Amino acid sequence: MTLTETGTSERRIKGASLRTESLTAGYGGSPIVHEISIEVRPGEIVSIVGPNGSGKSTLLKSIVGIVEVLAGRVVLEGDDVTGKAPEEIARSGVGYVPQVDDVFGPLTVVENLEMGGYLLRPKQVAARVEHVLEVFPQLRRMLSRRAGKLSGGERKMLAMGRVLMLEPALVVLDEPTANLAPMIAHTVLDEHVRQLAQTGASVLIVEQRARAVLEISDRTYVLGGGRVRMEGTPTELSASDEFVDSFLGGGARP
Ligand SMILES: Nc1ncnc2c1ncn2[C@@H]1O[C@H](COP(=O)(O)OP(=O)(O)OP(=O)(O)O)[C@@H](O)[C@H]1O
Ligand SMILES: [Mg+2]
Repeated sequence: MTLTETGTSERRIKGASLRTESLTAGYGGSPIVHEISIEVRPGEIVSIVGPNGSGKSTLLKSIVGIVEVLAGRVVLEGDDVTGKAPEEIARSGVGYVPQVDDVFGPLTVVENLEMGGYLLRPKQVAARVEHVLEVFPQLRRMLSRRAGKLSGGERKMLAMGRVLMLEPALVVLDEPTANLAPMIAHTVLDEHVRQLAQTGASVLIVEQRARAVLEISDRTYVLGGGRVRMEGTPTELSASDEFVDSFLGGGARP
């Protein structure tokens, strides 16, 4: 992993590339997502939007090794990681923030961060906590609070901080704004996801808030019925009547 100095004490890692090749995955041998080919280039923020039940979480879970891949491949930095165990994928530099159960409620903020460093040598943990606090300075004043008592937005920031403990080269985020009030959702996407991306990590993010996530995305894929229906840059998608009508509420374009 390449570490370079950028200005003050900020350390940037080299973002990883990811692609899925005709990936089919599902539960109990039954496919839910079909022949999905997507790509995240180093340092990009790539989003996936789509209606409830379209297979967004299933796709992310198949990438990080939680859901069974039935056909196709997952390629990380040129290496085939298809079917590897979640811990192996994590060791390969992928951080995953699930849609639910993203922090340990009874533990404090600092304990949650330390848990995120489970693959580190004990000596490295304190330095990594300090680095995460440089990325998310807002967490510093909450270190001794129980994660279960945090607000929804604070909790998401902690969940992102927790995966940063292992210095991931790719962060996979599943609907970080689910169940958040619109103002807080905006803060999570516009501030916290950007703070995360400033580490240099590539980001693959699933979101229902299409308009908001387009603002921070380099490229976006649209999932429907378990298949990729559209893809493009925010500018390209915003120029598509079909996309605007389905996902941006028609009328006003961003
Ligand atoms: N563990 C599971 N076993 C069997 N089927 C499942 C399981 N998890 C999800 N599914 C089914 O897979 C389909 C896609 O679900 P998925 O959670 O991937 O959708 P999603 O796009 O993430 O939806 P949402 O926006 O509501 O989070 C749904 O029909 C769902 O019922
Ligand atoms: Mg989901």
